[in-house]
Amino acid sequence: MLRRFDTAREALEAAPPDAPLYCLRPHEFSAAAAAAIDAFPGDVMYAVKCNENPYILSALAAGGITHWDVASIAEVRTARDLFPDSRLYFMHPVKHPGAIREAYFDHGVRVFALDHMEELDKILTATDNAGDLTLMVRVAMGSSAALVDLSGKFGQSPRFASPILRACRKRAARVGLTFHVGSQCISPSAYARALEAVAKTVDLSKTPVDAIDVGGGFPARYRGDEPPFAAFAEEIGRAFASHPGLQGARLLCEPGRALVAPGMSVLTRVELRRGDRLYLNDGVYGGLSELKLLGPVFPMRVHRLDGPGPVGEEAVFKFYGPTCDSIDTMPGPFWLPSDVRTGDWIEVGMMGAYSNALRTRFNGFFADRFVEVDDQGPVSIADHAPAEAAAAGE
Ligand SMILES: Cc1ncc(COP(=O)(O)O)c(C=O)c1O
Repeated sequence: MLRRFDTAREALEAAPPDAPLYCLRPHEFSAAAAAAIDAFPGDVMYAVKCNENPYILSALAAGGITHWDVASIAEVRTARDLFPDSRLYFMHPVKHPGAIREAYFDHGVRVFALDHMEELDKILTATDNAGDLTLMVRVAMGSSAALVDLSGKFGQSPRFASPILRACRKRAARVGLTFHVGSQCISPSAYARALEAVAKTVDLSKTPVDAIDVGGGFPARYRGDEPPFAAFAEEIGRAFASHPGLQGARLLCEPGRALVAPGMSVLTRVELRRGDRLYLNDGVYGGLSELKLLGPVFPMRVHRLDGPGPVGEEAVFKFYGPTCDSIDTMPGPFWLPSDVRTGDWIEVGMMGAYSNALRTRFNGFFADRFVEVDDQGPVSIADHAPAEAAAAGE
């Protein structure tokens, strides 16, 4: 069980930690899951890679998630241990044969993604030519309106995906197509364009599909002006219905970020202030790598334990992580009260996605304390910072 506090500040006051502290708000994860399930015209999986903390997975399950997108045998085991009756989808297009075999025979996984003929042979061999497979061919997407471009690594164009789809149809009980538009995609129309590529693949291959998985990519609402999940669900439903060749297929999605970002904040301590530079006890090699990747979109507030305040007008700061590596910097600019000082704790909100999941032990720094809190974390920069802060995130 996690220790529970009314507020993140109370967690700090109870025992000021000597390392960053992760504050979980389980009700937020459950609410995001329930809202997505309600809005999406198909089944909603959760992409376990985004944050595999078991408390978070359980909160998502409490919100109704029963389908899990897993990308490694370790994630397969984690999800299966926690949810014996759930459905697992092994959506990494390139897998070790032993991982496929264990997933199929020991954990009941029947759905596998691929984007190459060699992978098809691998899946068939590893499963002893199982007759009950669903094979999902990954279609490549060009870079889109996503802040994190995932277009360069996996997938085939419709022309090259169609022979793979035909080959899968001959060998598998069910076939489907999948894609990923890139993470933190702020444009619902990116999914409509992706569904066009899917429809083209079906057309070229003359192979009807049983399932279409529109992937993840749905944005967390860091700034507050990103379209809500429901707007994406509506656009996907509309685009799907406009392609006669896709009718009859089951729709799926596999969000990560949009489901878990709001439910967690990270508390990091200012170890030293040098002008506009704040040296923190967390950084790029810890839980804050997205502060470098996405920039100053994260909402924040400051807790001072040894006196009143801070009370200053907001000013801009740069962050420096705890390791000796000069990559461990986050230029921001981050808006905080101008009198923030050494010993203050910065609470970075909306940090449930790709934070603790990406942390390393580099330089001996590794935060691993999680607590449950009931208060509302910092929500979006539009809610707490001046207008320039929102503009700086553009
Ligand atoms: C195959 C796949 N599905 C889903 C996700 C989750 O994406 P997001 O967190 O952007 O929703 C990812 C992220 O990398 C992925 O690779």
